Amino acid sequence: MNVVQVKNIEKIYGSKNEKHYKALSDIDFEVENGEFVGIMGASGSGKTTLLNILSTLDKPTSGEVTINGKDVTKLKGNQMADFRAHEVGFIFQDFNLLENLTAYENIALPLSLQGRKSSDISEAVNKIAKKLGLEEILDHYPTELSGGQKQRVASARALVHEPAILFGDEPTGALDSKSARALLETMEKINREDDVSILLVTHDPFSASYCSRILFIKDGKIDQEIKRGASSRSEFYQEILDSLGTFAE
Ligand SMILES: Nc1ncnc2c1ncn2[C@@H]1O[C@H](COP(=O)(O)OP(=O)(O)OP(=O)(O)O)[C@@H](O)[C@H]1O
Ligand SMILES: [Mg+2]
Repeated sequence: MNVVQVKNIEKIYGSKNEKHYKALSDIDFEVENGEFVGIMGASGSGKTTLLNILSTLDKPTSGEVTINGKDVTKLKGNQMADFRAHEVGFIFQDFNLLENLTAYENIALPLSLQGRKSSDISEAVNKIAKKLGLEEILDHYPTELSGGQKQRVASARALVHEPAILFGDEPTGALDSKSARALLETMEKINREDDVSILLVTHDPFSASYCSRILFIKDGKIDQEIKRGASSRSEFYQEILDSLGTFAE
């Protein structure tokens, strides 16, 4: 089954009296359950626009987006908030943690918002904290954490409600190379062991090399697709660099 199904999406920015800008057109693709898909492309190519549409933060001008069997472009108000709270998880470049909440409270937030019992919340938070190696820092505030730790807390918050898919928009963008590698290895692990589907937007070939398939966007269209297949991560990294070379021509 496909966790994401995108049909013929178009996104035009600018309302009636403003100048129009076509940020996406003819976007068609699927993400299978359990896949780890990357989206690469130059700055301004439409990556964030696409991710915002998939994650219901924005709507396409036309086209269909189905996530976990639901047409998200047809959701309204509360339904959309509800859908987001249950079905998707996000991680961003700048972590987006709430500074006045501890790591534990930040991770618990999606479940608290769903009004879940505190014993259920505690069980779920401790389980994901253990998986991501955060047990020791649960009572710390974000200002007391390193960048890598903050992003692991953000990842735990994105996964605590067991979403159908995890979306990441340059989640390694603000991390040093060691923390970036650790985060990517964690993503690879939860993808492999827990079958979490992941869609990762990045312009970094190293990050992309952890994916099993990569879609390249150019000027708002999907221009090329490559699959890792049986290649090792480092072979795939080389293949990505080669693709970026021809892609840029
Ligand atoms: N709210 C908006 N209104 C008008 N134009 C926009 C808006 N958001 C994005 N754009 C334009 O749409 C295009 C795609 O932007 P987008 O943010 O999706 O690019 P991106 O691939 O994520 O780039 P980056 O790698 O720099 O993050 C850009 O030309 C951008 O200027
Ligand atoms: Mg972007």
